[in-house]
Amino acid sequence: MTKPTPIPLEPLYELSDQALEARIRQAKETLGESCVILGHHYQREEVYQFADFTGDSLKLARLASQKPDARYILFCGVHFMAEVADILSSPEQIAILPDMAAGCSMADMADLPAVESAWQAIGKVIDVESMVTPVTYVNSMADLKGFCGDHGGTVCTSSNAEKVLAWAFERREKVLFFPDQHLGRNSAARMGISLDEMVLWKPTQPNGGLSDEQIKKAKVILWDGFCSVHQMFQPAHIDLFRQKMPGVQITVHPECSYEVCQKADHLGSTEQIQSAVRNAPSGSQWAIGTELNLVNRLKHEMPDKEIHFLCPTICMCSTMFRIDTQHLCWALENLVAGHVVNPISVPPAVAASAKKALDRMLSVL
Ligand code: 13P
Ligand code: SF4
Repeated sequence: MTKPTPIPLEPLYELSDQALEARIRQAKETLGESCVILGHHYQREEVYQFADFTGDSLKLARLASQKPDARYILFCGVHFMAEVADILSSPEQIAILPDMAAGCSMADMADLPAVESAWQAIGKVIDVESMVTPVTYVNSMADLKGFCGDHGGTVCTSSNAEKVLAWAFERREKVLFFPDQHLGRNSAARMGISLDEMVLWKPTQPNGGLSDEQIKKAKVILWDGFCSVHQMFQPAHIDLFRQKMPGVQITVHPECSYEVCQKADHLGSTEQIQSAVRNAPSGSQWAIGTELNLVNRLKHEMPDKEIHFLCPTICMCSTMFRIDTQHLCWALENLVAGHVVNPISVPPAVAASAKKALDRMLSVL
């Protein structure tokens, strides 16, 4: 039998928004239960409205493992999220990312060769296997989760990082945390670990830019990675809001800097930020330090509250933004036509190692 030819993407850009939305609805209806659409909170509204389930990284990872009837898991998010869906779902299920260019710039800041060479370099100073637990933020490539799986380590998300670090410290005295220095620093600080006990590993410098003494003394070795969206929020933005709006509550994502998180009233994952604002009384005032699409959605959903974006400039996740209605329609209509576009398939050996690390995380909660 000849393979069906994929439906092309380009003509979809000629359609009106209404026509596109009607076609997405139709394709979704035809596919029924065989396809589940998962949507991250940073997705643009036009796409987000079609998600069967929405959430933060942890919630979506769990959902991916709890939908055995869906042959296809269509992930409206970024690449590492679709990889996690592939790893945690059954082998018969297929994870799909509507646009392969929807990556995460922070996840790209650590790769396996760089982490392996850091592990070796640290191993020349201390007994790394018995003293250091590697912990990767879920915003990382599958092979780094595999590295953690194979070295007694685990994965965390922004909603469980402290619990995961506590798990790690029960096993070994130090943690190597990658790729986000801010989530690592903020979570360790909230556990009572002082900044003096944390060092920054700079992967482009010999020995990470650290002396042997610094490595021996450190409790947490943080990778020099960050989110380009969340680094835009500054302590001065919080000062300004507090000045002009004395009753304002500031909530920020823990990918923001230590200085910003220290000044905020509340830190949380996207789901936790959403719950905090939803559960607040009518009339309350909020300034939120996370991606713009989520903040705008909350603003729109709760006109009875005064909701502001913390930064005076626009901070958007441009890679998440790549998933548009055209790509969503294209992926769905191809499924209807019997063609899978953009499947995300983690090689089995990597997936098995990464699953060990993810299962350790899921067992902690
Ligand atoms: P959440 O897990 O809080 O949804 O965060 C994911 C992310 O990439 C934030 O930048
Ligand atoms: Fe990655 Fe930052 Fe986008 Fe989150 S907001 S997906 S960390 S680039």
